Amino acid sequence: MKKTIVITGMTSGIGKALAEHFAKKQETVIGVARSAHRLEDIKTMIKAKYNVEIQTIVADFTSFDAMQKAIHQIKTEYAKGIDVLINNAATVPQKKRLTEDGFEWQYQVNHLAVAYFTLELYPLLKVRNGYVITTGSDAHTRARFDVEDIEAVKRYQAFRSYCRTKLYNLMFNLALSQKKEFSKVRFYTVHPGRVKTEIGTKDTSFIYKLFWRLFTRKGYDPNDTVDTYDFLVYQKNHPAPYFHLRKAHNYLIDADDTHHQDLLYQKTLKDIAAWR
Ligand SMILES: NC(=O)c1ccc[n+]([C@@H]2O[C@H](COP(=O)([O-])OP(=O)(O)OC[C@H]3O[C@@H](n4cnc5c(N)ncnc54)[C@H](OP(=O)(O)O)[C@@H]3O)[C@@H](O)[C@H]2O)c1
Repeated sequence: MKKTIVITGMTSGIGKALAEHFAKKQETVIGVARSAHRLEDIKTMIKAKYNVEIQTIVADFTSFDAMQKAIHQIKTEYAKGIDVLINNAATVPQKKRLTEDGFEWQYQVNHLAVAYFTLELYPLLKVRNGYVITTGSDAHTRARFDVEDIEAVKRYQAFRSYCRTKLYNLMFNLALSQKKEFSKVRFYTVHPGRVKTEIGTKDTSFIYKLFWRLFTRKGYDPNDTVDTYDFLVYQKNHPAPYFHLRKAHNYLIDADDTHHQDLLYQKTLKDIAAWR
């Protein structure tokens, strides 16, 4: 049976490669991202290359109202269930900014949005005993959980906040994996490796752009990363929570701290409560 796969951040880098990969396999792909014209371009490219229609939904994750509309559309059109949610969108803006909802930008886009899509789409995933796969990063190993500053708003430093949100991606999935009420779905986090994408060139300084291009010069092509997602989607029920290059991968032991997981979970529920 055809799988229904929701991919966030589908307009460049890893998300674009994933959309192309699963569309080529004739799966039903629903791409969610902030740029209408980039979504349209990818839809047209996939139609031309594979003669497959993918669905695109515009939503900027700096707006919970926009995310709520996107989720409502998915719930209405795919009421029979979805098989996979790939939480992939993320950003590393250099300057500290707040979203229209009043949260630190990365905290909302990289973490709250992931939690919101996961929790809201859980009922659809449950129907199919589906999977949540979040694109995390080994950058999480540089982060520490700060009970006093979970949102990481004190002394904002772009990469520091990014590392924390990537730790939250893993911790949130680990937390849900242990809850009985989420036992019908499997939660995985993937470290894609160092990948030649645009992420370090968006909302960053000239110097940082230069650094990112040098840093990723010998990195993976985004198409090289899809194998791990493919493996998790089609070769069922791996017990490990964190993957890299199709293999279980070590992660920061602190992520297993159940007290911190619970603090993160409770704060997240509180922060997204107004839109549920
Ligand atoms: N590249 C690496 O070396 C690397 C390493 C480890 C982990 N990762 C992870 O891989 C994932 C994909 O990143 P990438 O490297 O492929 O970067 P990318 O090419 O910049 O892709 C990021 C995607 O997220 C979307 N996005 C950004 N801000 C958004 C917002 N406010 N609302 C909705 N969508 C938004 C982008 O949309 P636009 O096209 O409009 O910008 C794009 O589709 C991220 O989770 C990242 O943390 C990347």
